[in-house]
Amino acid sequence: MCGIVGYIGEGDAKEVILEGLEKLEYRGYDSAGIAILKDDVIQIVKKSGKLSILNDYLEKNPISGNLGIGHTRWATHGAPTESNSHPHYSEDRKVVVVHNGIIENYQQLKKGLIEKGYKFESETDTEVIAHLYHSLYKGNSIEALKNLIQLIRGSYALGIIHSDNKDELLCCRNESPLIIGIGENENFIASDVPALLKYTKKVHFLENGDYGKITKSNIELYDINNNLVEREVNTIEWTLEQATKGGYEHFMIKEIHEQPETLRQTLERVVNYHDYSINFEEIIKKDELEKIENIHIIACGTAYHAGLQGEYMIEKIAKLPVATEIASEFRYSNPFVDKKSLCIFVSQSGETLDTILAMKECKKRGAMTLAITNVVGSTISRDADKVIYTMAGPEIGVASTKAYTNQVLNFFLLAIYFAELKECISSDEKKLLLEEVKKIPQQIEVLLEDLELIKETSEYFKNVTNGFYIGRGLDYKVALEGSLKMKEVSYIHTESLPAGELKHGTIALIEEGLPTVVLCTQTELLEKSVSNIRELKSRGSYIISVTNEENTEVIANSDVTLLIPKTIDILSGLLSVIPLQLLAYYTSLNKGIDVDKPRNLAKSVTVE
Ligand code: AGP
Repeated sequence: MCGIVGYIGEGDAKEVILEGLEKLEYRGYDSAGIAILKDDVIQIVKKSGKLSILNDYLEKNPISGNLGIGHTRWATHGAPTESNSHPHYSEDRKVVVVHNGIIENYQQLKKGLIEKGYKFESETDTEVIAHLYHSLYKGNSIEALKNLIQLIRGSYALGIIHSDNKDELLCCRNESPLIIGIGENENFIASDVPALLKYTKKVHFLENGDYGKITKSNIELYDINNNLVEREVNTIEWTLEQATKGGYEHFMIKEIHEQPETLRQTLERVVNYHDYSINFEEIIKKDELEKIENIHIIACGTAYHAGLQGEYMIEKIAKLPVATEIASEFRYSNPFVDKKSLCIFVSQSGETLDTILAMKECKKRGAMTLAITNVVGSTISRDADKVIYTMAGPEIGVASTKAYTNQVLNFFLLAIYFAELKECISSDEKKLLLEEVKKIPQQIEVLLEDLELIKETSEYFKNVTNGFYIGRGLDYKVALEGSLKMKEVSYIHTESLPAGELKHGTIALIEEGLPTVVLCTQTELLEKSVSNIRELKSRGSYIISVTNEENTEVIANSDVTLLIPKTIDILSGLLSVIPLQLLAYYTSLNKGIDVDKPRNLAKSVTVE
């Protein structure tokens, strides 16, 4: 949930760390801090609030050195105050620690340390690590780190520096991500790739249980069994440009605009349009699918919403029963999962702890696990038996947009692939589906050309505190996502409902002027949706419909219609979500909210 950057080399550690932290602010931004070793002294500067506050302070009060660690925090233990911010010192100011994750047994460890005479300055679990390392250090840093790891329980990525060892940066990970960047006469650690792209594209992804010592010219790593290991050197193909705003005002709008391109890339990679074959043979083979009796899709938030569309697509196209579940609930539900189950985990970051733990549960029960994720080398991608990479490129805005549409597209292609393996789709049907999906990127481009009506509609939302998003069938699944987008970036309370469910209670809340976004794309359900619109309108609701131009009844009964191009019903979610993403974005802008970093949220939720 937090961002870590560490540097050791010949350059200015402060500069590298601050630049890296800026790229990681999506991981947390309620406080930030930096520790730099100069001569024999480690100096820490930390500030509550956004990174810019720390930056401003350091401009006026510069520090310098060639070894340092920095942190941007999303509070879990203790308020986002300066004293709770990282890095944390040991009592003698010689050991300094940054941490991402949660130390579950910190209370017990803290008690033991207090009994030994250690004094604590913060309410955090992290400070325990600084004191504990200090108490374990007997002249050998790797020994101390090894012993520390044996005592702590929970999720962690750690960066540690010790003024007794001026040429070393220590690190380790368990459940929380950490990478090592490899440079020339310099090395780095970071929570995520964008932090390092300016300096290196060569990285090691640490495995759970890995720990090690980094100098400017050497990386010494040990695995969970204390064996010296050499981890693979991965070359990152993202450009820095891809990981930064590329001329847009915010990451969210940049990422919305990237959707045609990223969807096109996915199609190019997965579909061979010469013979309409789908390149998923590596993922699952015919005999493997034949053994599968049930499919579960498990995810959180937006990824869960993509899973709901996935369920619909797999059931409709491949005629396989699917249950989509929220990861945090699934894990404790004693699920009906065994070796005849295929469990699909959807996660943009690949680091969502609820999803990781649900995957562990499924593996324990013998299920086949498939990850759909955007981050190569992420925990979920490495833990799963099989992986589909969404290849949406780095998604930095906290509100997920392009990852969602890429997840949905992959589900669509997976559904066709499963149908083919099951021989329940004709080649003509398959061709039709693949030809229709080929048009989607260009249809999104059309949608992105004229944003005037969406901007005007967002003005209406500026002054409301509540709203509804409704739809039937597949439209309801998109309504859930539209409503979540609005909530997270505009702070307007919106609720999503199956349109037919309104009359069973919630309609009591409808009053003059309350906006309802009605998705109307499913041909069979159109008449019913028009009736819902009339019910709402007669009670004063302001109707914003999302439909195509052929649905004249919908248009005639709406206050505003956000038109989308015509496609086949099953693909409509890939188009109808676009105006909803845009509506949320422009409403956020109108309200002056920091759209890429809305309050209380973090891009990657690595706590339960
Ligand atoms: C999306 O806009 C949200 N910020 C959030 O719901 C997110 O989708 C969820 O936390 C899951 O993240 P993941 O895809 O990285 O696992």
